[in-house]
Amino acid sequence: MKLKAIGLVNSPFKLKKGSPHQGRFSNEFSTITIYKEYEEALEGIENFSNLIIIYWMDRAGPASLRVVPHGKTEKRGLFSTRAPVRPNPIGLCMVKLVKREDNILTVKWLDALDQSPVLDIKPFVPDIDCL
Ligand SMILES: C[S@@+](CC[C@H](N)C(=O)[O-])C[C@H]1O[C@@H](n2cnc3c(N)ncnc32)[C@H](O)[C@@H]1O
Repeated sequence: MKLKAIGLVNSPFKLKKGSPHQGRFSNEFSTITIYKEYEEALEGIENFSNLIIIYWMDRAGPASLRVVPHGKTEKRGLFSTRAPVRPNPIGLCMVKLVKREDNILTVKWLDALDQSPVLDIKPFVPDIDCL
Protein backbone atom coordinates (compact mmCIF):
# COMPACT_ATOMS: atom_id res chain seq x y z
CA MET A 1 0.00 0.00 0.00
CA LYS A 2 1.23 3.44 -0.86
CA LEU A 3 -0.27 6.53 0.69
CA LYS A 4 0.25 10.07 -0.53
CA ALA A 5 -0.56 13.18 1.42
CA ILE A 6 -2.87 15.35 -0.66
CA GLY A 7 -2.62 18.35 1.65
CA LEU A 8 -1.80 19.69 5.07
CA VAL A 9 -3.84 20.90 8.05
CA ASN A 10 -3.35 24.30 9.64
CA SER A 11 -5.06 24.15 12.97
CA PRO A 12 -5.12 26.09 16.25
CA PHE A 13 -4.38 22.77 17.97
CA LYS A 14 -0.59 22.69 18.20
CA LEU A 15 -0.32 20.10 20.98
CA LYS A 16 -2.23 16.96 21.87
CA LYS A 17 -2.77 18.43 25.33
CA GLY A 18 -5.83 20.65 25.18
CA SER A 19 -6.95 19.46 21.74
CA PRO A 20 -10.57 18.28 21.47
CA HIS A 21 -11.05 14.52 21.66
CA GLN A 22 -13.53 14.88 18.80
CA GLY A 23 -13.67 17.90 16.54
CA ARG A 24 -17.43 18.19 16.90
CA PHE A 25 -16.84 19.44 20.43
CA SER A 26 -14.97 22.50 19.20
CA ASN A 27 -16.01 25.50 17.13
CA GLU A 28 -12.45 26.43 16.18
CA PHE A 29 -11.64 26.96 12.52
CA SER A 30 -8.90 25.06 10.71
CA THR A 31 -7.71 25.23 7.14
CA ILE A 32 -6.72 22.43 4.84
CA THR A 33 -4.29 23.39 2.09
CA ILE A 34 -4.60 20.98 -0.79
CA TYR A 35 -1.38 20.61 -2.74
CA LYS A 36 -1.55 22.34 -6.10
CA GLU A 37 -1.27 19.10 -8.07
CA TYR A 38 -4.58 17.95 -6.54
CA GLU A 39 -6.45 21.28 -6.70
CA GLU A 40 -8.47 20.22 -9.75
CA ALA A 41 -9.99 17.44 -7.65
CA LEU A 42 -11.71 20.06 -5.49
CA GLU A 43 -14.06 21.08 -8.30
CA GLY A 44 -17.66 20.84 -7.02
CA ILE A 45 -16.74 20.51 -3.37
CA GLU A 46 -18.49 23.83 -2.57
CA ASN A 47 -21.78 22.02 -3.22
CA PHE A 48 -21.36 20.03 -0.01
CA SER A 49 -21.88 21.55 3.40
CA ASN A 50 -20.07 18.74 5.16
CA LEU A 51 -17.01 16.71 4.29
CA ILE A 52 -15.30 13.62 5.62
CA ILE A 53 -11.62 14.27 6.22
CA ILE A 54 -9.21 11.36 6.47
CA TYR A 55 -5.87 12.32 7.93
CA TRP A 56 -2.71 10.78 9.28
CA MET A 57 -2.15 11.13 13.03
CA ASP A 58 1.58 11.50 12.53
CA ARG A 59 2.37 12.16 16.21
CA ALA A 60 0.39 9.24 17.65
CA GLY A 61 2.24 6.96 20.05
CA PRO A 62 2.93 3.30 19.32
CA ALA A 63 -0.11 1.13 18.63
CA SER A 64 -1.77 -0.32 21.68
CA LEU A 65 -4.33 -3.11 21.30
CA ARG A 66 -6.20 -2.29 24.50
CA VAL A 67 -6.77 1.30 25.60
CA VAL A 68 -8.82 3.32 28.05
CA PRO A 69 -11.21 5.40 25.91
CA HIS A 70 -11.64 9.10 26.61
CA GLY A 71 -13.84 9.64 29.66
CA LYS A 72 -13.82 5.96 30.67
CA THR A 73 -11.87 4.13 33.33
CA GLU A 74 -11.49 0.62 31.93
CA LYS A 75 -9.48 -0.69 29.03
CA ARG A 76 -11.22 -1.93 25.88
CA GLY A 77 -10.06 -3.34 22.60
CA LEU A 78 -8.60 -0.62 20.39
CA PHE A 79 -11.03 -1.24 17.54
CA SER A 80 -13.95 -0.46 19.82
CA THR A 81 -12.48 3.01 20.38
CA ARG A 82 -11.39 6.11 18.41
CA ALA A 83 -7.99 6.28 20.13
CA PRO A 84 -5.09 7.50 17.94
CA VAL A 85 -2.66 4.73 18.96
CA ARG A 86 -3.57 2.44 16.05
CA PRO A 87 -1.51 0.16 13.77
CA ASN A 88 -2.40 2.69 11.05
CA PRO A 89 -2.97 6.02 12.78
CA ILE A 90 -5.77 7.22 10.53
CA GLY A 91 -8.07 9.94 11.83
CA LEU A 92 -11.57 10.40 10.45
CA CYS A 93 -13.60 13.55 10.95
CA MET A 94 -16.88 14.83 9.61
CA VAL A 95 -16.39 18.59 9.26
CA LYS A 96 -18.39 21.62 8.23
CA LEU A 97 -17.09 23.28 5.08
CA VAL A 98 -17.07 27.01 5.76
CA LYS A 99 -15.47 28.20 2.54
CA ARG A 100 -13.17 27.28 -0.29
CA GLU A 101 -10.62 29.74 -1.65
CA ASP A 102 -8.75 28.07 -4.52
CA ASN A 103 -6.82 25.20 -2.90
CA ILE A 104 -7.60 26.20 0.69
CA LEU A 105 -10.61 24.86 2.57
CA THR A 106 -11.71 26.47 5.81
CA VAL A 107 -13.51 24.00 8.04
CA LYS A 108 -14.99 23.59 11.51
CA TRP A 109 -15.05 20.43 13.68
CA LEU A 110 -11.67 19.09 12.58
CA ASP A 111 -9.66 17.61 15.47
CA ALA A 112 -6.38 17.16 13.56
CA LEU A 113 -3.31 18.74 15.10
CA ASP A 114 -1.54 21.51 13.21
CA GLN A 115 0.54 20.17 10.29
CA SER A 116 -1.27 16.81 10.12
CA PRO A 117 -1.04 15.28 6.64
CA VAL A 118 -4.39 14.88 4.88
CA LEU A 119 -4.91 11.60 3.02
CA ASP A 120 -8.33 12.04 1.45
CA ILE A 121 -11.52 14.08 1.38
CA LYS A 122 -14.98 12.72 0.64
CA PRO A 123 -18.33 14.50 0.62
CA PHE A 124 -20.65 13.71 3.49
CA VAL A 125 -23.83 12.38 1.87
CA PRO A 126 -26.67 11.87 4.37
CA ASP A 127 -28.34 9.14 2.26
CA ILE A 128 -25.15 7.10 2.45
CA ASP A 129 -23.60 8.18 5.72
CA CYS A 130 -26.58 8.33 8.09
CA LEU A 131 -28.21 5.20 9.39
C1 LIG B 1 -9.48 10.55 19.69
S1 LIG B 1 -8.67 11.07 18.19
C2 LIG B 1 -10.05 11.01 17.07
C3 LIG B 1 -9.63 11.34 15.69
C4 LIG B 1 -10.75 11.24 14.68
N1 LIG B 1 -11.84 12.17 14.94
C5 LIG B 1 -11.28 9.84 14.62
O1 LIG B 1 -12.30 9.57 15.25
O2 LIG B 1 -10.66 9.01 13.95
C6 LIG B 1 -8.49 12.80 18.39
C7 LIG B 1 -7.21 13.14 19.08
O3 LIG B 1 -6.16 12.79 18.22
C8 LIG B 1 -5.06 13.63 18.46
N2 LIG B 1 -4.45 13.96 17.19
C9 LIG B 1 -4.93 14.75 16.20
N3 LIG B 1 -4.04 14.88 15.22
C10 LIG B 1 -2.97 14.13 15.57
C11 LIG B 1 -1.74 13.88 14.97
N4 LIG B 1 -1.40 14.40 13.81
N5 LIG B 1 -0.88 13.05 15.61
C12 LIG B 1 -1.20 12.52 16.80
N6 LIG B 1 -2.36 12.74 17.45
C13 LIG B 1 -3.24 13.54 16.82
C14 LIG B 1 -5.57 14.88 19.14
O4 LIG B 1 -4.92 15.02 20.37
C15 LIG B 1 -7.06 14.63 19.31
O5 LIG B 1 -7.46 14.96 20.61
